[in-house]
Amino acid sequence: MKRLVAGNWKMHETTRAAQRLASSIVASVRELDIGPNVQVAIAPPFTALAAVGAALAGSPVLLGAQNMHWEDDGAFTGEISAPMLIDLGVRCVILGHSERRRYFGESDAYVNAKLRAALAHGLLAIVAVGETNEEHDAGIAGERVVAQTRAAFDGIARERLPEVAIAYEPIWAIGSGRNCDPDEAERVMSTIRSSMPGLEGSPILYGGSIKPENFGAYLALPNCNGGLIGGASLDAGAFAELVRLARDTAPG
Ligand code: 13P
Repeated sequence: MKRLVAGNWKMHETTRAAQRLASSIVASVRELDIGPNVQVAIAPPFTALAAVGAALAGSPVLLGAQNMHWEDDGAFTGEISAPMLIDLGVRCVILGHSERRRYFGESDAYVNAKLRAALAHGLLAIVAVGETNEEHDAGIAGERVVAQTRAAFDGIARERLPEVAIAYEPIWAIGSGRNCDPDEAERVMSTIRSSMPGLEGSPILYGGSIKPENFGAYLALPNCNGGLIGGASLDAGAFAELVRLARDTAPG
């Protein structure tokens, strides 16, 4: 399966800085000559999508969004729809990030509705799942992520599953510098893989304090097909190094 390296810029960078960062990333990715088996995406804030899209034009780096609404249009103040994203050249979208779930009340049902909309519009969706620190300590990480995964895919045809990536992001590992032990991450990712028929073909990403020093250990795991990167994706040099690791370990 292809490798996928996606940068989630979260609420960082105004347009000018975003364009500069995207241009540096494009330059490094061009140099790396990633080939057909590595996909790279960056998801800036909505306000920087147009500027970053311009910087990515003609490059293999996909423009991503961090969220979207499930309806195409309507009275939904403050929301952005799939057609609006596509209009700006967006090709992929992160859905159900734990920060959306935690701070903005994003439920499993919302994630499911958004995933249906993303599929209807041909966007590559990255559905994020992960357990809290308490759930981790209680030994129920597997149960939690399976519940989130099944809810996200509820009612979605099995043959569509390979079009969706799942990011396993233990919440306690996000932005904490406390990355999940790779063996433990593999156990959870293999649980996700076997939680529904059809997921054999879906890329599964690890996310949570990924850095150039630790990414290789995740890429070596049988059920890890890439990474969803926060902090390190804001540093063009570090992000390029992550892309290089993915390229060097990509199949065939
Ligand atoms: P960090 O890489 O900063 O831990 O963030 C991970 C993340 O939340 C990506 O979506």
